[in-house]
Amino acid sequence: MPVKPRRPLVAANWKMHKTVAEAGDFLERFVASIGGLEAVDLVVCPPYPALATAVEWTERTPIRVAAQNMHSEAEGAFTGEVSATMLRDLGVEAVVLGHSERRQLFCETDEALARKVPAALEAGLVPILCVGESEAQRDAGETEEVLAAQLAADLAEVSPSRLAEVVIAYEPIWAIGTGRTATTEQAQEAIAFIRSRLARRDAGAAEDARILYGGSMKPDNAAELMAQPDVDGGLVGGASLDPADFLAICRAGVT
Ligand code: PGA
Repeated sequence: MPVKPRRPLVAANWKMHKTVAEAGDFLERFVASIGGLEAVDLVVCPPYPALATAVEWTERTPIRVAAQNMHSEAEGAFTGEVSATMLRDLGVEAVVLGHSERRQLFCETDEALARKVPAALEAGLVPILCVGESEAQRDAGETEEVLAAQLAADLAEVSPSRLAEVVIAYEPIWAIGTGRTATTEQAQEAIAFIRSRLARRDAGAAEDARILYGGSMKPDNAAELMAQPDVDGGLVGGASLDPADFLAICRAGVT
């Protein structure tokens, strides 16, 4: 198998799971078992209250901590929101943006994401931008149209020189938390399409940008998905809550 040109990245999206103590328990076990994973970028995305403890547990390890959302402004009258500056101040290094749960349940718009992605880059956070179609959109043959529209809108204010720094997660909504993983062909096809859209902005960035698959990735399907030529890793929800399962998925990223 040819060596992939991009470094794989596997991220644990804990969503609204794990207290501070539970995050510490996970990381204590995970940190102790990451030997041999030097070739993979490892990321954990705890809920806000567990970010600081996650940063402490992962100090002097290659594991990076990501938040699950942020506001685009540095500060201001935005009750309940958290800024990129505040996340950087905690030692957070990346942020998930535009997850479909935020789009569907919390009215996250492409307009907001067009501000958030460059704000994250500007503050020194790696944005992990999620895109993906619903089941109805896939059934109607609209997958590529939906992905193209999300990418065009959400990356509109990112300069071509910084495009490669954005990590993109292709997460078909019908596969998230359903146990219905996309087939390797579906994942590869959609991710290759996403890369082709990036290439319209900048060919070099399209080659360098990491594009992950997310949606019911598990220890038993991760290797096959991540072996696809354009799939550069995974954004893992349910299966990332258990350190042994998440570790198995990370190991599947070593090709
Ligand atoms: P899942 O979630 O692995 O539980 O399907 C993935 C995600 O929402 O990022």
